[in-house]
This record gives sequence, C-alpha cells and structure tokens, in this order.
Amino acid sequence: MKRMEASEYEFESQVDIMDKIAARNSLLPSPPKAYVDTYGCQQNEADSERLRGMLSRMGYVFTQNEFEADVALINTCAVREHAEMRILGNVGALVHAKKARKDMIIAVCGCMVQQEHMAEKIKKSYPHVDLVFGTHELQNFPELLERLLLAPKRRRVFAVSDSEGRISEGLPVHRDRGVKSWLPVMYGCNNFCSYCIVPYVRGRERSRLPENVIAEAREIIASGYKDITLLGQNVNSYGKDLGTGVDFAYLIEEINKIEGEFVIRFMTSHPKDATRRLFETMAACEKAARHIHLPFQAGNTRVLKAMNRGYTKEQYLDLIAMAKEIIPDIVLTSDVIVGFPGETDEEFEDTLDVIRKVRFDSLFTFIYSKRKGTPAAEMPDPFTREEKQKRFDRLLELQNAISSEKHAEYVGKTMQVLVDGEGEGGEYNLTARTSGGRLVHLAGDRALIGSFTDVEITGSTNWALFGKIK
Ligand code: SAH
Ligand code: SF4
Ligand code: F3S
Repeated sequence: MKRMEASEYEFESQVDIMDKIAARNSLLPSPPKAYVDTYGCQQNEADSERLRGMLSRMGYVFTQNEFEADVALINTCAVREHAEMRILGNVGALVHAKKARKDMIIAVCGCMVQQEHMAEKIKKSYPHVDLVFGTHELQNFPELLERLLLAPKRRRVFAVSDSEGRISEGLPVHRDRGVKSWLPVMYGCNNFCSYCIVPYVRGRERSRLPENVIAEAREIIASGYKDITLLGQNVNSYGKDLGTGVDFAYLIEEINKIEGEFVIRFMTSHPKDATRRLFETMAACEKAARHIHLPFQAGNTRVLKAMNRGYTKEQYLDLIAMAKEIIPDIVLTSDVIVGFPGETDEEFEDTLDVIRKVRFDSLFTFIYSKRKGTPAAEMPDPFTREEKQKRFDRLLELQNAISSEKHAEYVGKTMQVLVDGEGEGGEYNLTARTSGGRLVHLAGDRALIGSFTDVEITGSTNWALFGKIK
C-alpha cells in the first residue's frame, strides 16, 4: 500500500489559515469560546486534543457550557447504536443554544458522520448543524471553519471523503492538564471483524514514523505527564505498513529509555498479533505497565470464526498462559460481545468458560449492536434481546464475583501507585492507579497528584481498591 503523508505544502496552507483566523479573533473585545464534546474511544480523545490544538491556535478559549460557545464541535463515535442515539439526542439539543446565539457555529465530526447515511441524516434532520466533516478531514478543520466564518452569507459545509486515510504530523495538540496522556501510534484498522464499523469509518492501518512517535513521547514526558497510553486499534500490527522492520515492541523499548519516572500503557492489542516478543519486552521494560487489555470478544471457536477474529478459543487461552508465564503478576482485562448473530446458548457457555479460566481483573461487556454495512448485519440473528440480556446478566454476575475475589487478593499488600486525581469527595479524596491499572481510592494531600507512592491496600470491592499511604 502506498503511504501518504499530508504534504508540507498542504499543512502550511492550514497554518496560514489558522493565523488568519487568529488575527481576526484578536480584534474581538474578548476571545471567542469553543465547546468540544467527545464520544467514543481514546483515539477520538486524541483527535479532539488536535482539534482543540487547532482551535487554540486560532485564538479560541474553551468552555464547558454550550450556551456560551461561538463554536460547538461534537466529535462522534459509531461503534454501537446506543452511542449514536445519545449523540443524535445531544446534537439535537444544541438547537436551543443556537436559538440563543444565532451566530454560533455547530460542527459535527468523526466516526458517526463518516457513514454516508448519518451525514445525510444530519443534513436533512438537523438544519442547525453548520459543518459536518469526516475522520479523514481532521487536518482541514481550519479551512472548513474559515469557509463558514468568512462567507458573506453562511452556507452549510459538508466534507466527508472516502479515503484510505493518511497521516498528518505537526498538528498543534491541546492536552488537558493532568497526569495521563494519549499518544496515537497508528490510525485505522485492517481487521474487518464482521461486527465492527471501525475499519469503514477510520480507513486502513497506517503507522506513524517511529521518530515522530518517540519525539512526541519526549514532549509529553517533558511537559510533566506521568502516564502515557500508546493508542491504535491494533497496536500489535504497528510498523507492518512501514516495511522497515520496526514493530510495536521497539516503540516500547525506545520510550522506556526516555529519562524520568512514568508508566507506559497501550491499547488495544489484538490477540491474533500478540507475540512472545511483546510480553518479553513488557517484562524487560521497567516503565511498561503490568497490564494487558486483550479483547477476546467470544469464547466459542465457531463464533470467533464468524466474527473473523483470526484465533480459536485454545489459541487465546495459550496466549494468556504465555503472558502469565512471562509476567506472573500481569493484570488481564478484556472486551466481550454477547449475542453475536446466531450465537447459541451452548456457544455462549464457552465465553463463560474463558472468563472462569482466565480470571480477568475486569471486563468491558457489550450486547451485540447491528452496524449497517458490516457482514454481521446480514447474518440471521434469531435470538431476542431478552434472551441476550439474560446471558449478559449471567456474565456480569460471574465477572463481578471474579473481580471481587481478585481484588480481595490485593488486601494487605503494599503496592506502588501513581496518584492521578481527586476523588469524588468523602473520606477518600484522591484516586490512584496501580501498574496493572487498578483504581485505588486514597486519603492524602492534593499535592501528591502526579507522584508515585507506596500504599498498603486496606479494602476492596468488585470495581476498586482502597489504600493507605505508607
Ligand atoms: N480495536 C479494538 C476495539 C475497538 S471497539 C479491538 O479490536 O480490540 C471496542 C469494543 O467495542 C470492541 O472490542 C468490541 O468488544 C466492542 N464492539 C465493537 N463493535 C461492536 C458491535 N457492533 N456491537 C457490540 N460491541 C461492539
Ligand atoms: Fe474493530 Fe476488529 Fe478493528 Fe478492533 S480489530 S477496531 S474490533 S475491526
Ligand atoms: Fe467509536 Fe470511532 Fe473509536 S467508532 S470506538 S470513536 S474509532
């Protein structure tokens, strides 16, 4: 596949536009305000950091209140119907803000509107939306905004292109201040799991050059972040498209060499591409978190084949055995889909069997959601929502019991954690994470946020731990 980078010329022209808009905004009595709302995965969070970076460069300041926004930008997700319904509801509700501020610009971008039928729906049914742009237009946002700002009479702008996708380096990034940061290492997905919309809305896999990823990691660490999550839909295939022999483990090794105290996390890892080298690298790199999120989706081999996942139940269990052999204290988490079209009750038992055998610390569980245009949407789906819900409840009950037991095993241990934020109040005013990514509630001085500290685990529930600073 041909590798495409946005040309320097194209990027320069966007920079010129940003400068032009910034100059115009600087003449206003006070800086204009932007409201950015993000749905979906961390990949989308990372995109929003770039959209905010561009907005900030254009002279906007940020608000959490859509009623005072000059620009409202909704970055959308398409992974499940529930996400789309929620987004459409919230986009619809923006009509009230627009009524109050007639000049407000409302923009909707990202995965949901990359689907033609959704872009059409917005065009027809949401006339208060001024700008719609797809995932391949992110770097053109300044130009699209300029068309709305400078036109004598405002006309709606729709920019959704089909593209293999490309990589735009050098966009400004506006990160929330704090402890945790996102670092995209690759974009897109080539796997076409039969239920999943992501490959259709995000284009083919393309890896950033290792030097760009490592340079951004250095910047992130230099800015004081202590927790860096490397992002991709399947980080284990990082580098394959570059043809230079670099792989994901190499990135971990290189980032691990950067001076400073921080942890390296990553997601998501596809089981079919996870290798011994990956686990050995994690074991050898002291900054790599003792955690892997390894979605198995279903336990039954026939269902896995219908899902186009590329591994069997036994291969998945062997992979887990290898992970535990190389990193005995590794924390395992996963994603599961219940009620894939045609999955029978007996086949679902295999999902429970995998959960019992692996004993994950926690799981993200989803009921199958039909996505238009994917192969699974055409498969017969004879089981009712109620039947699927029953299975889902059984799965949750089993996992809650396992999570409770696993978390109880931490009690009495002393562990190093990274204090990462304020709690919800009450006795435990701080939150922290173990290397394995477990949430720990603590009491202590706010000044500890951003530092690593030893805690004794004093209590647990099925979803969190409680600790005392040593
Ligand atoms: N690239 C990641 C997953 C991204 S989507 C991976 O392969 O692991 C996050 C999760 O959403 C998936 O792991 C899957 O469990 C779930 N998911 C994706 N499509 C879905 C659908 N159509 N219905 C229900 N859950 C879905
Ligand atoms: Fe979707 Fe599969 Fe790609 Fe993950 S690997 S994003 S589940 S197609
Ligand atoms: Fe959603 Fe797009 Fe991520 S569909 S899960 S925001 S890649």
